[in-house]
Amino acid sequence: MPKITFSRFVAGTMSWGQWGKEFSHQSMSNLIDYYYSSGITTFDHADIYGSYTMESDFGKAFKRAAVQRDKVQFVTKCGIQYLSENRANEVVHYDTSRAYIMESAEASLTKLQTDYLDVLLIHRPSPLMHPNEILEAVQRLKKEGKILHFGVSNFGPSQLDLMLSEGAIEVNQIEFSAVHYAPMFDGTLDRMIQHQILPMAWGPVRSYFNLQEDSKKERLELQLLELTQVYDCTVDQLLYAWILKHPARVHPIVGSTNKDRIASALRAAKIKLSTQDWFKILIASQGHQVP
Ligand SMILES: NC(=O)c1ccc[n+]([C@@H]2O[C@H](COP(=O)([O-])OP(=O)(O)OC[C@H]3O[C@@H](n4cnc5c(N)ncnc54)[C@H](OP(=O)(O)O)[C@@H]3O)[C@@H](O)[C@H]2O)c1
Repeated sequence: MPKITFSRFVAGTMSWGQWGKEFSHQSMSNLIDYYYSSGITTFDHADIYGSYTMESDFGKAFKRAAVQRDKVQFVTKCGIQYLSENRANEVVHYDTSRAYIMESAEASLTKLQTDYLDVLLIHRPSPLMHPNEILEAVQRLKKEGKILHFGVSNFGPSQLDLMLSEGAIEVNQIEFSAVHYAPMFDGTLDRMIQHQILPMAWGPVRSYFNLQEDSKKERLELQLLELTQVYDCTVDQLLYAWILKHPARVHPIVGSTNKDRIASALRAAKIKLSTQDWFKILIASQGHQVP
């Protein structure tokens, strides 16, 4: 099995197409080139993005980009059955059956115009999932060379334990940020360190910019603004630096399509946030000191 290698920052494609910016294939291609030339080589997808259209748009855009397939990594997900004009679903639900995982992975290969997926993730834990059934599909896809690695997304500690009881998990993609820090305290990140599961963090900055809770926003804003002076940096860079300091080696997924913001995110890797300043941000977010 090849060693799993991703860029430390991952490019999230969720809002490139119908679920956001509605870029042309040429603009997506330019964005792929920009991400690649910035050193971000891992691209995150899901079958459902853009109401089941984003993988196919990306596949077409990638053909125009000046990047070779073996220089980048494609991560995609399956398991959510979404409401879409492209599906006959009556309600959003999850499907982690062997047949559905196989079918969805095959569809992702076709849409992304690739022979293999670097990683396939189960998008959300289903109350109806059985680890044996999922891993049967995974073994088959690996044997056929269609996926190189397997992971999950939004799995908490008990769900990780359930999967680990039958086989290895290589990635867990979770919501994690200075605003949404629960995975540090509910056992999720502990389990991931223990079992060498690589964490990817979605919502690394959006959770702050969209924060509705006034008191929390005010506390964080004050603290972050003070630290921007200390580190001569921006608020979003501090939010990334806070994530990067966690010992689980969390890989933030950058959701922005704005080149200045992407470049700014990368500069966060140079910030050496002190332990006390890291705690100041946590305390501002929690609204209380640590005991
Ligand atoms: N596994 C899962 O369940 C799951 C769930 C959600 C997302 N994801 C993945 O994670 C990726 C990233 O998630 P995310 O979109 O939540 O990432 P994010 O990077 O936290 O947020 C990106 C959004 O925040 C805006 N933004 C960024 N910097 C900003 C700033 N300085 N001021 C104001 N707005 C700012 C961006 O707008 P601009 O584009 O205009 O900069 C964009 O709308 C997605 O693309 C997807 O691949 C996975």
